[in-house]
Amino acid sequence: MIIKSAEYLISSPDWEKCPTPNMPEYAFIGRSNVGKSSLINILANNEKLAKTSGTPGKTVMINHFQVNKEWYLVDLPGYGFAKRSMSQRKQWEKMIEDYLRKRTNLVTIFVLIDSRHSPQKLDIDFVNQLGEWNVPFSLVFTKADKSTQAEVSRNVKAFLAKMRETWEFLPPHFVTSTVKKTGRDAILGYIEELNAQ
Ligand code: GTP
Ligand code: MG
Repeated sequence: MIIKSAEYLISSPDWEKCPTPNMPEYAFIGRSNVGKSSLINILANNEKLAKTSGTPGKTVMINHFQVNKEWYLVDLPGYGFAKRSMSQRKQWEKMIEDYLRKRTNLVTIFVLIDSRHSPQKLDIDFVNQLGEWNVPFSLVFTKADKSTQAEVSRNVKAFLAKMRETWEFLPPHFVTSTVKKTGRDAILGYIEELNAQ
């Protein structure tokens, strides 16, 4: 897919304040600091589009971007951010659950997982939750440049094996590095395919 335009639209505190759901929508979620905003910038070819940070908890609202005036790309705040208070965590959970279950134009979400680690309970719990909610998703293993290919491959396999314990079908998965721009074409190609359906 060729990116002709990518613009920031709005940051919303809840699903009801999001833009009119008249275009296919793709959202990015995952543990805080896993690289959601960085990946969005790589996809959109604009390093300054979504705000990134070395400090976890940077993204706090539902951020809408519009690509090629045809589809929405959404940056969500991450989970597992230790410095959040219990009430902030509850607020996050409600915002995310409502958004994921009620947003009618949401085609699929991308769940980002740090490729440096073996399967983490937090990520497994989150994808299982998506299953219960019937939210379609795919997996994106990020920061592949930070370890060897063999390590990345081992962690990806271990995560899929863990899922296979309870899932009959596995979702599509991608491996990315925003440093090397790995995985960009595959994800954009996948979105293009879904947009055409
Ligand atoms: P929150 O909004 O806080 O949930 O974080 P996020 O998931 O949006 O992460 P963000 O994109 O802000 O990136 C966090 C840090 O990881 C930044 O310092 C990025 O530069 C770095 N980072 C993200 N992706 C990659 C990658 O593929 N490779 C490397 N080496 N660093 C990355
Ligand atoms: Mg972010």
